[in-house]
Amino acid sequence: MKKIILIAVAALIFVSVSAQKFDKIARTPPMGWNSWNKFACNVSETLIMGMADAMATNGMKDVGYEYIVIDDCWQVSRDENGEIVVDKDRFPHGMKYLADYVHSKGLKFGIYSCAGSKTCEGRPGALGHEYQDARTYAKWGVDYFKCDWCNTTTQDAKSSYINIRNALFTAGRPIVFSICEWGANKPWEWAGEVGNLWRTTGDISDNWNSMISIFNQQKDLARYAGPGKWNDPDMLEVGNGGMTTEEYKTHFSLWCMLAAPLIAGNDLQNMTPETKSVLLNKEIIALDQDTLGRQATCFRDNGDYQIWIKPLANQEKAVCLLNKSDEKKTVLVDFALLAQSRGGRNGSAPMKLENYTVRDLWDHKEVTLKETSVYVDLMPHTVKVYRFTRK
Ligand code: GLA
Repeated sequence: MKKIILIAVAALIFVSVSAQKFDKIARTPPMGWNSWNKFACNVSETLIMGMADAMATNGMKDVGYEYIVIDDCWQVSRDENGEIVVDKDRFPHGMKYLADYVHSKGLKFGIYSCAGSKTCEGRPGALGHEYQDARTYAKWGVDYFKCDWCNTTTQDAKSSYINIRNALFTAGRPIVFSICEWGANKPWEWAGEVGNLWRTTGDISDNWNSMISIFNQQKDLARYAGPGKWNDPDMLEVGNGGMTTEEYKTHFSLWCMLAAPLIAGNDLQNMTPETKSVLLNKEIIALDQDTLGRQATCFRDNGDYQIWIKPLANQEKAVCLLNKSDEKKTVLVDFALLAQSRGGRNGSAPMKLENYTVRDLWDHKEVTLKETSVYVDLMPHTVKVYRFTRK
């Protein structure tokens, strides 16, 4: 009997030691680049090295972007020992070499697989090889792992991802774990203990309707996010050409208000000055990266016109006015009321406007208020983003 109890206790201790995620990573939403949105299966060593070079030198690294993530299609098969085989034509020096290269630029390296038997593009998935792959990734120097949900047939999402989390933890290298099951099994309810970010919807496309419809689906999810655990409304499309610069500013602002991961998905080697001015807006990025780690909530919803509030550290806050409609809107904005409003059910304490400066984060200017209420013009599909900073 004693023996049985001892074994049971030992098993419990083992489970509690192995069943956890790394807790010191992704304390603010991860920032980086992923190959999928622009390049899909057209990935190669040259491409990835080029993106690392670009990120390290074009100002992105300086404002906080760090992960270079290869999405689907880098893998072709498994060898006789079940080891994953890299596409040798596209990645002639293998993944360790590439990881070392990315690290040599002061950046971090990410990779992709799938919880099912095959990836979405039909490459070998992780099913049955979770621990083996996790050891391989740790050996290569992987820092970020995106795990998809194709070809999972009858698998249970929560236990599949817990198994992979445990595999990563056992392999011993802290790896940001990005769960990509498209919100199908309400990951926000269970993934906080499992991964560092979880997709909340299907895939984004590079157009206004797709972007804004994904944004609309984030409304009730704020309470699930926080340091180390983020809702992921999918990667950015900024710079891919399907939206206007104003729409990309809106896309970027909304993602930052949501404390979403900021994973660029454009060609970093060919960025227009407009694309740079969006992806490198430090003041907007600072909202996303705020250490309080709170996702914005919707404070006023007049359909096409909404006001979102994001509580920030140090009793500060960000306010975003959004015009989703195809028409220009002129709205009366009461800054004293916005200062007072809590912004969500456990939002910031009410603030007195006179103790704060208000800054327009796209105009890069302080707002001078003669009256506390002013009329603001919002062009179609645009935002105004204000930061209330303590005087
Ligand atoms: C799914 C994911 C995408 C991308 C592709 C790759 O659709 O949601 O983000 O990773 O698979 O095949």
